Amino acid sequence: MAFETIIVDVEDHVALIKLNRPDALNALNSQLLSELCTALDEADANDKVRCIVLTGSEKAFAAGADIKEMSEKTYVEVFTENLFGEVGDRVAAIRKPIIAAVSGYALGGGCEMAMMCDFIIASDTAKFGQPEINLGVIAGIGGTQRLTRFVGKSKSMDMNLTGRFMNAEEAERSGLVSRVVPAKKLIEEATAAAQKIAEKSQLTAMAAKEAVNRSYELTLNEGLLFERRVFHSMFATEDQKEGMAAFLEKREAQFRDK
Ligand code: CAA
Repeated sequence: MAFETIIVDVEDHVALIKLNRPDALNALNSQLLSELCTALDEADANDKVRCIVLTGSEKAFAAGADIKEMSEKTYVEVFTENLFGEVGDRVAAIRKPIIAAVSGYALGGGCEMAMMCDFIIASDTAKFGQPEINLGVIAGIGGTQRLTRFVGKSKSMDMNLTGRFMNAEEAERSGLVSRVVPAKKLIEEATAAAQKIAEKSQLTAMAAKEAVNRSYELTLNEGLLFERRVFHSMFATEDQKEGMAAFLEKREAQFRDK
């Protein structure tokens, strides 16, 4: 499918999805969100793709939901159309790993979009924030919920109540991002991480993603039980036999996703 607000490039088992509305700092309007969800679905269904990288431009991953598009909407309209209600579910339904590669502004819906991915690699220029309070609203796609789970109540309150931005160093220190890399190397590093994941058994990578995500929903004991059941189930796969045999034979594993 031809997209107008994103660019998709599939190479070496990695789908690189680039948000591309430079004039609006990649503000998330309805067209971009719809195209992004379609591209993610297509990447998830594409046998050639084993990992997805979501990125923006050097200046902005995304500066939030499109303020121009929503400023005149009424309560009845946003409630009826369930504004931003679908995107979280659509991203959560993607079973292949998704890395957010964030440079520049990741604000409001942009920060929330990055947090919907499985982990965030940030450039040293990244700035994260939930400045919705300055617009007379609160975050609407996870900024009060996911951010709190990432960085804890105190910092989340600080971000959501003052609207201040967090730089890359603070974001890494707070557990929001997994690593910080020089801006010029962001795509290279994120793609390398994606290729590392692509080398694993896809079956196992999807199971690991599922298990980590369950930790958000379950009590510790329920989560540990879920994890153990999935761990046990891996012994029904050929990839478990291959992975362990390769270790014992001191060679690289040849996973076949079986
Ligand atoms: N929506 C629509 N357009 C946006 C936008 C947004 N979120 N963010 C930036 N733009 C547009 C600007 O209007 C401007 O367009 P024009 O040239 O046509 O005027 C263009 O992008 C460049 O922006 P600036 O001139 O403002 O660039 P800057 O470098 O001076 O500032 C910035 C950059 C600090 C990111 C500033 O643009 C900004 O504060 N943006 C808004 C951030 C924000 O409030 N995000 C939250 C949105 S609400 C939300 O996301 C709700 C939710 O949880 C779902």
